[in-house]
Amino acid sequence: MNEHDSEIMAGMLEEIGYERKERRQDAEVLIINTCSVRENADKRFFGTLGQLKHRHEDDPDLIVCVCGCMMQQKHVVDTIDQKYPWVDIVFGTNNMHRLPHLLNDLLQSRENGEEKPEREIWDKAEGIIEGLPSERLFRCKALVNIMYGCNNFCTYCIVPYTRGRERSRSPEEILKEICALAEDGVREVMLLGQNVNSYSGEWPCGRKCDFAGLIREIAEIDGIERIRFMTSHPKDISDDLISLFRTCPKLCKNIHLPVQAGSDDVLKRMNRHYTRDMYLEEIRKLREAAPDITISTDIIVGFPGETEEDFQKTLDLVNEVRYDSAFTFLYSKRRGTPAEKYDDQIADEVMHERFDRLVDAIDTISAEKNKAYEGRVERVLVEGPSKRDKRTYAGRTDGFKLVNFTADEDHTGEFVNVRITKGRTFSLEGDLVEE
Ligand code: 5AD
Ligand code: SF4
Repeated sequence: MNEHDSEIMAGMLEEIGYERKERRQDAEVLIINTCSVRENADKRFFGTLGQLKHRHEDDPDLIVCVCGCMMQQKHVVDTIDQKYPWVDIVFGTNNMHRLPHLLNDLLQSRENGEEKPEREIWDKAEGIIEGLPSERLFRCKALVNIMYGCNNFCTYCIVPYTRGRERSRSPEEILKEICALAEDGVREVMLLGQNVNSYSGEWPCGRKCDFAGLIREIAEIDGIERIRFMTSHPKDISDDLISLFRTCPKLCKNIHLPVQAGSDDVLKRMNRHYTRDMYLEEIRKLREAAPDITISTDIIVGFPGETEEDFQKTLDLVNEVRYDSAFTFLYSKRRGTPAEKYDDQIADEVMHERFDRLVDAIDTISAEKNKAYEGRVERVLVEGPSKRDKRTYAGRTDGFKLVNFTADEDHTGEFVNVRITKGRTFSLEGDLVEE
């Protein structure tokens, strides 16, 4: 979602005459788009600001902007004002569309000789802003927001506080955007939302449109050949959606289904609203609908009160599901969340030791799963040449596996067939199969 916000900001700036620079030192305007989900990102953010201070002093024309969900937290903005008052523009996720105005106001104030930093945070989103431009990272694939915010309040998570309550875009607007993307050469869309399963849009006639209904509509658009989505909450995944994996060829056979933990006790204290058995049942149904489906997940290690026994249940679950890949996170205490107040926080060394065991288990399975692709021919949407070697290209399979392959010609943006020669832990390697 942050990546897409960055694409939108780049798009807005391009419309008023700016262009993207590859290297930070070449830019006249720097925008730091922050994430508040885990503490590491906070630390990196303030570290980056610290490094920029001297450059800002030396270069009076430089404009430093900071934005993203960290700015929706008052204590962060207070810290910026106290410790980094030289930051020129601060704005939040709810008023991202205001960037060109804020930039203009700042330039005006500089021209008038009164250096006036801009601070503008909106506590609430004022409806949904449609029609914002986007400078896509890839020509052939696009990220498309279908909803914003989250109502789930998992006890560890800051998102409901920074991104607000769920708001769904209208299906009409989403389809209009995707039709325009298809005209512009996009072949694959990734539908974005904190919990896409609870998408609830409304047609102009007042009729409701749920997530499966939205996918069916998108699948009708000529030119769009692949549809993906992220992220889907296990408690809300509908049988109708699962059936689409069987019936809708454009829906990629791939799902990211964050489990977070394998122990019912932990899941309960996380406020996840499902049990381990309910989760495993969803996995069973998904594999029944699409035997080849690739499955990834998110797991948090060291949630307050997690015992060795609880952790073993997470390991067991990983071995039972056999994920294609998984994002693993050390639990990170977030200010204002219920879990911050839980008094049985886990010691760092225990957390790290469990984390290492989990990553080992996940990597072993990923490597085995990827090895099984050796010899297979996969249809790959080519994203572009590798920076290191001009004859190596990268693309993704329907199951979202990253494939690096050699080819004499540039097929960026096209579908090609690649024979997989090597399955590594995090990617596949192969050779182009000439048509
Ligand atoms: N600590 C660790 N991981 C977290 N996530 C969200 N909040 C936290 C936290 N406080 C992880 C969850 C989520 C992913 C996007 O980030 O696994 O699915
Ligand atoms: Fe956070 Fe839970 Fe909402 Fe995901 S579903 S954004 S983890 S509160």
